[in-house]
Amino acid sequence: MPFTANRQFKQNPRLFVAAKDMHYTTSDGRQVLDGTAGLWCVNAGHARPKIVEAIANQAAELDYAPAFQMGHPKAFELANRIVDIAPEGLNHVLFTNSGSESVETALKVALAYQKQKGQGSRTRLIGRERGYHGVNFGGISVGGIVTNRKMFGTLLTGVDHMPHTHNLSKNAFSRGLPAHGAELADELERIVTLHDASTIAAVIVEPVAGSTGVLIPPPDYLKRLREITRKHGILLIFDEVITGYGRLGTPFGADYFGVTPDIMVTAKGLTNGVIPMGAVLVSSEIHDAFMTGPEHLIEFFHGYTYSGNPIASAAGLATLETYKEEGLLTRGAELAKVWEDGLHSLRGEPHVIDVRNIGLVGAIELEPIAGQPTKRAFSAFLHAYENGLLIRTTGDIIALSPPLIVSESQIGEIVDGVRNALRSIQ
Ligand SMILES: Cc1ncc(COP(=O)(O)O)c(C=O)c1O
Repeated sequence: MPFTANRQFKQNPRLFVAAKDMHYTTSDGRQVLDGTAGLWCVNAGHARPKIVEAIANQAAELDYAPAFQMGHPKAFELANRIVDIAPEGLNHVLFTNSGSESVETALKVALAYQKQKGQGSRTRLIGRERGYHGVNFGGISVGGIVTNRKMFGTLLTGVDHMPHTHNLSKNAFSRGLPAHGAELADELERIVTLHDASTIAAVIVEPVAGSTGVLIPPPDYLKRLREITRKHGILLIFDEVITGYGRLGTPFGADYFGVTPDIMVTAKGLTNGVIPMGAVLVSSEIHDAFMTGPEHLIEFFHGYTYSGNPIASAAGLATLETYKEEGLLTRGAELAKVWEDGLHSLRGEPHVIDVRNIGLVGAIELEPIAGQPTKRAFSAFLHAYENGLLIRTTGDIIALSPPLIVSESQIGEIVDGVRNALRSIQ
């Protein structure tokens, strides 16, 4: 079982056997309200007809086409539809099969781009403490979650980290962006001074750090990162695996913050979580830097057997159509105030030391049980599940991200479910 307490799970398994719209059905026949869009991915809700139909039709029509030296129309169509909704300037797409693969792809593009430009000394990658960029070696190297790193040796060399922006003493119970900490972006200048810009290829951050427990950047923090990276010729990569496809009430986090990176990493919501797929977007400047040399030669030695898989592409197209028809990429903005008020009504409940929110993302941070970190939040998770609500916990933080089709009354149910759990656990 991935990222699971295996022995605990096997003593008392939690199994879903069906799902529709906002609800799962458990193996013992109970309905569970999805407060997490699966794992931050089922943005349009479950078993949406258009997506189901597209997958079935595609499997019958063209199940697989080789990804190397061959193609099929839907991958190109999907790339174009993604570019249509992406921030201006990000207009080329590489397909992958997960967020982790998208991260590795982005880091490799960044290194190879610098070499293509005659700047082969730019080999360093800069991430951020508490960042989550998947589980592969590049991602855990630039990532900053100790449990994901400490067992796995020296990781990539030449990586440095900026500090995270979480500051409970100054920013607890902020609504939306926290007021303090924009100056932490200047830590990038310190790192540049230490290593010299000529050794740095790229900086990678999540616009909002999700998996570590929803750390929301202070106003202008990302703008400042953009200015510093541009000034020093360093590529800026946004890992939008969570913030992409409507989660913040805008198509991408880049739109929310008004900051366009050079490379954007996406996955999850691209196919509504239904078929594994990721997409990495790059600028023409980056794409064109590779389009040199004899035309019969491969320009970028990278790719996966399942890059742009036909069924995944069909799922992606149907997902983007569903988002468009139902206005889901911006629906989060309409619900954000109700969501914020609901979540902040949990202030004052037992164990709560912070509540954070942005778009349709929320976090409730709990005081850990002394000597037993993560146990309190895990108890809340079990209590909520047993009482018909799926929440996610990371450390002692409850993270919430319902499908973007959630109704106002379902937001109320989510908040009440968390409240009941907090009042019931130790
Ligand atoms: C920001 C970010 N990057 C990368 C990943 C990894 O995605 P996957 O689990 O699809 O490999 C995640 C997953 O939660 C993520 O949140």
